[in-house]
Amino acid sequence: MEFTARDRLRLLAALGAMPLSACAGGGGGSSPAPPASPPAPPVSPPPPPPSSTATLKQVFATEFEIGAAVQTAQVTGGTVDQSLAETHFSSFTSEFEMKANIISPAQGTYNFDPADGLLAFARANGAKVRGHALLWYRSTPGYFTVGTASDVRDKLETYIAEVAGRYAGDIYAWDVVNEVVSDSGTDTYRQDDWLQAVGKDYIDWAFTAARAADPAAKLFINDYSTEFAGKRGRLITVIRDLLDRGIPLDGVGHQFHLSRGIDPNQVLAAIDDIDALGAGLEQHVTELDISVYSDPPECFESGVNCQTGYGTASSDVPDRVYKEQAQLYRDLFEGFKARDSVTSVSLWGIRDSQSWLNNFPVSRSNYPLLFDPDGDPKSAFLAITDPDYVI
Ligand code: G3I
Repeated sequence: MEFTARDRLRLLAALGAMPLSACAGGGGGSSPAPPASPPAPPVSPPPPPPSSTATLKQVFATEFEIGAAVQTAQVTGGTVDQSLAETHFSSFTSEFEMKANIISPAQGTYNFDPADGLLAFARANGAKVRGHALLWYRSTPGYFTVGTASDVRDKLETYIAEVAGRYAGDIYAWDVVNEVVSDSGTDTYRQDDWLQAVGKDYIDWAFTAARAADPAAKLFINDYSTEFAGKRGRLITVIRDLLDRGIPLDGVGHQFHLSRGIDPNQVLAAIDDIDALGAGLEQHVTELDISVYSDPPECFESGVNCQTGYGTASSDVPDRVYKEQAQLYRDLFEGFKARDSVTSVSLWGIRDSQSWLNNFPVSRSNYPLLFDPDGDPKSAFLAITDPDYVI
């Protein structure tokens, strides 16, 4: 049973509201009869409200931007998500509405309305926006990668000039390319439509076009599984190649879609290995979530042998699992705070019920974020905001 912060606050309030006379045998009304026995020791006042009443952006104000992925509909219309977003986060990432399949599903046509909605929300709340993503193989409409290399380059450069140019000054950091590194040990670059069409030059073109469109924006390469040495080594090969050839690159995005049970030091090693390049690259944690399940590789590869779901209510998850999740969040955030190159940490969603992990790698209720389906802070939230919180 997840003991929410609201429960905790209710308990503290109840303790605080209890009349002391009920505990100490005296006080109030006419002079009390002489005590039948020595007066009980005074009850110490209840502890101050937990710092969990502090907001995420207050707690991390001097550390890094604390962000969340959102959908524009979630932060407009007075929803609980809008309230949580306004209260807790200093940065936002569009979960899907800033991708090419939404912005430009057909060549030469552009639909900026959903993205504009998020920018307006962020602007109204003094928050920053991470652009995600100018190029991602999974959200690339087919027209981009057909034709000669020159045709492909022209379409990509035109698209990036249009999008990054439109948001110059509003989007401070872009995931210019997302998931271009191979998951397998034999290839460095992902064998996707872009690589098949023009080879790895598309990565150069994307970064160069983004720099030209918005010289002030920070340009990131973003990927998942960087917490695993093999994938990270291939990413570093790509990064070194870009830097050696003077391709504009300002930072590395680590998605960090994690599973319960991973060693936090293994995750933090990803940050340290990029720092060790000595290139002064900024590092953003871009899509953080911690699944309450601990699945074998085949579960992610082919959806088999996945851990059975705990149930559709957050209270179905055993307390020990939430404690483990909370400890991992605490250890990671302590590690992020200790590394100056980490300048942004974003959760991939606000409430558990919205998480993509409810449908990946299989359909089962997951509880990977800081707020439960009702929008109450979880033990994971308390663990990173209240140093005195006992997990
Ligand atoms: O909201 C619309 C709905 O109105 C419509 O009826 C429905 C059917 O078309 O689509 C809904 O939008 C879906 C959206 O998620 C919201 O659920 C899109 O089709 C669907 O493509 C979109 O999926 C997103 C996915 O990226 C592809 O863009 C996920 O939300 C998002 O969590 C996921 O995020 C990726 C990162 O960009 C990269 N790293 C991995 C991460 C997880 O896959």
